Amino acid sequence: MNKLHIIQHPLILSKMTQIRRKETPTKMFKELVNEISALMCYEITRDLETEEFEIETPVSKTTGYRIKGEDLVLVPILRAGLGMVEGIQNLMPSAKTGHIGIYRDHETLQPVEYLCKLPSNMQNRDIIILDPMLATGGSAVKAIEILKSYQVKSIRLACLVGCPEGVKYVHESYPEIPIYLAALDEKLNEQGYIVPGLGDAGDRLFGTI
Ligand code: URA
Repeated sequence: MNKLHIIQHPLILSKMTQIRRKETPTKMFKELVNEISALMCYEITRDLETEEFEIETPVSKTTGYRIKGEDLVLVPILRAGLGMVEGIQNLMPSAKTGHIGIYRDHETLQPVEYLCKLPSNMQNRDIIILDPMLATGGSAVKAIEILKSYQVKSIRLACLVGCPEGVKYVHESYPEIPIYLAALDEKLNEQGYIVPGLGDAGDRLFGTI
C-alpha cells in the first residue's frame, strides 16, 4: 500500500506557489497555510470510518452519516504546526487539539520533548499530526513515538512541504504511517532547509523573521 500521498490539485498548486514566494506577507502566509491545510483535509480524512444513523428532513426520514468513534485529535508540533489547526478545525469542529513541543538538542542533535498536552482517552482515537515542513523527519518520528505510547487507533502525518530525506526517515522508522504532503521538494540543504521550500515556516507564520 502506498503510504506517501502527494495531494495535487489546481487550488493547492496555486496556493503553494503563493506561499513559497519570499515577498508573501505574514497575514497572507497564515491564511494560505490554513486554506491549503483545509483542502488537504479532504484527502487526509478520506478513509475515516463512517456510521449510519437516522435523521428527518423536512420531508421524510432518511439515513445520515457521521464519522465513527471518538472525536479525532489534531496534534500540531509546536510551533509551526499551530498554523495548520484552524483550517482543519473549521471543517471538523468536533476535533480536539493536543500539542507536542519538540526541540533539537544542540549537542546530541536528538529531538527532545518539552511539552505534551493531549486530550484524555487517547486510546481508540484517530490522530493527525500537523507540521508544515517535513525536513529531517526527526520531530515527526519523535511525535509518532510519543503518540504510539498512548496506543492510539491510527496516526496520519500531514505536512505542506516534504523532502525525500524526511519521507525516508519517517517510513524507515514507521512504515505503516501514511504521510500527506502538498509538495515533495528536491532536497534538504546543509542548513537543514528544504530546497526550494518556503523558508522557516514558524518565522513566516508568526512574523519572527
Ligand atoms: N523547517 C522549516 O520551517 N523550514 C525548512 O525548510 C525546514 C525545516
